[in-house]
Order: sequence, then structure tokens, then C-alpha cells
Amino acid sequence: MHNDVEKILFDEATIKARIKEIGEKISKDYARRDVVAVGILKGAVVFFADLMREITIPVRFDFMAASSYGTSTKTSGVVRILKDIDTDIKGKDVIIVEDIIDSGLTLQYLRSNFEQRGANSVKLCALLDKPSGRRCDVKGDYIGFDVPNEFIVGFGLDYASLYRNLPYIAVLKKSVYEK
Ligand code: IMP
Ligand code: MG
Repeated sequence: MHNDVEKILFDEATIKARIKEIGEKISKDYARRDVVAVGILKGAVVFFADLMREITIPVRFDFMAASSYGTSTKTSGVVRILKDIDTDIKGKDVIIVEDIIDSGLTLQYLRSNFEQRGANSVKLCALLDKPSGRRCDVKGDYIGFDVPNEFIVGFGLDYASLYRNLPYIAVLKKSVYEK
């Protein structure tokens, strides 16, 4: 275990098994539909790569970068698009793939943004959900695991751009960010 980690919440085998289940569910729900999976950079990359390989129906990939955080551990509430998709999503069934839903502000913004562009449907898929952080009425359609109100790192999630490569989901030691 990494020295900056307080405790591991989900190990690699547990995560992979859950991602397989979500992939199977999506493959069933979206059979014969025109699916575009939009991964939100950078946090969703690890989850996205694993999830896509558990999906057995045709699916297009695209990526978007949005930010509501900076490097602090509390959300700013402001969503900025740093990189846009280049797929025309008009009439397509979009699945937004995120690392974690916390305040929900990022996904609330992205969902309405895709709806305005004429997507046929928009669903939200996130590896993690932190319901205690919610500041708006957003619900995930496909969720890996609920997590407590702690700062989480690993499996794509970062603190100050680090720890994304940890192969498990963990709580970061408070001493790392309360300096
Ligand atoms: P929201 O708009 O507050 O739902 O924030 C979503 C984004 O905040 C995620 O995509 C993450 O980048 C970041 N975030 C929220 N909670 C955590 C956490 O516990 N660890 C790492 N990043 C987090
Ligand atoms: Mg982040």
C-alpha cells in the first residue's frame, strides 16, 4: 500500500468484477442503439479503458475535459470545458463516463450541454458516487460503488495530479493535503 494512503476501499479484483457487471448491463440496455461513450478526462481514463472492454456491442469513443476543481479538495462549483468532443452527437445515445460524482455540478452541466446539442439520450456512468457531497439533483444511471465523504484517490482519481495510477480505490491520508 502507498505510504500516503489511509486505507484501501476497493481492491483491483473487486473493481474489475464490478466493471464487468456494468459492461454487461450497458451491453444489454443499449443493444441496437447508436452509442457514443464520452470519457471525462483525465480521471475517467482508467475506468473508461476497462469498461469499454467489457462492452460487447458497437460503441464509439470520445473524450472531453471539464474542470470544477483546480488542485484543491473542495469543489469550486464552476465548470469549464477545457477540451470538447469532436463527434456529432445529434441523435446519438450518449453515455457520459466519469470517475466520481461528488457535488454533481460537472455532470449536471455536461448532461444539459449534450441535450442541447440534440443527443437522443444522455445517461451518466461513474465508477464512484459520493452522495454526501451532492449540491444538485443529479443521479447516476450506472454506478460502480458508493464512497464515504472522504478524499478518494486511485484508479484514475487524483490529488494534485498524483495517485491516478494506483490500481485500487483508496482514502488519502489527511496529512497529505492538510498542510
Ligand atoms: P463534481 O462536479 O463535484 O461532482 O466533481 C466531479 C469531479 O471532482 C470528479 O470528476 C473528480 O475529478 C473530482 N473529485 C470529486 N471528489 C473527488 C475525490 O474524492 N477524489 C478525487 N477527485 C474528486
Ligand atoms: Mg479530478
